[in-house]
Amino acid sequence: MATHVCPIWVGYFLASRLRKLLQNPTRIIGPFVRPNMTVLDFGCAMGFFSLPMAEAVGPGGKVVCVDRQPEMLDVLKRRAARAGLLDRIQCHVCPEDSIDLKEYDGAFDFALAFAVLHEVSHPDRILSDLGRLVRSDAPLLLAEPAGHVTPQEVEHTVALAREHGFVMTRALLIRSAHAALLTRAATQEATISEEDAGVRSGTAAKASDEHNRESRGRR
Ligand SMILES: C[S@@+](CC[C@H](N)C(=O)[O-])C[C@H]1O[C@@H](n2cnc3c(N)ncnc32)[C@H](O)[C@@H]1O
Repeated sequence: MATHVCPIWVGYFLASRLRKLLQNPTRIIGPFVRPNMTVLDFGCAMGFFSLPMAEAVGPGGKVVCVDRQPEMLDVLKRRAARAGLLDRIQCHVCPEDSIDLKEYDGAFDFALAFAVLHEVSHPDRILSDLGRLVRSDAPLLLAEPAGHVTPQEVEHTVALAREHGFVMTRALLIRSAHAALLTRAATQEATISEEDAGVRSGTAAKASDEHNRESRGRR
């Protein structure tokens, strides 16, 4: 059971410009977020991804930013206001073991859970909520920091996500992260069998691991 929660001071570091050299948020969310979408940033902290998502959805879209630490959301709101993006951002403080947001059931066109699930004490409950919240054919981008989450732990999370109706469609190569794109099984079952999905998720962590090793080698 996870006990560590990202300290506020780390939140400032995670939202810093320096991080963009390693993980470009606009590029990472770019293929998935379009104008007028309603999107979820679960475990958003100070909005490293939420603000680029707010740019991408435009004035007709909405980014729902969820975190269990209100201090993170306070800073996010100030950053969004400075960037002129507050009108399309909604912040929600959630309890430790649930996302809530019942009013958004099936409403999200895209959901992001970046570097958060390893901090969650009941990932099964959170994955169940995510399964309820995303539209049936909408993608969920799941990523964990390669530094302190092993590929095996990510495999385990992906396996847990399958119990809540998700299948992994592909691995995503993001520096210093193990990342996977998931969708609800119902939309995928015609094209990907359970066995197939298992094989793919097996190669996903390996692919990101190799990618991260290569990146470290190049640096
Ligand atoms: C390591 S930070 C990652 C922040 C952001 N996703 C990023 O990549 O910049 C993890 C964030 O998840 C939040 N968090 C941890 N457990 C949570 C939970 N059970 N529900 C909601 N947020 C949670 C923490 O408060 C923290 O802001």
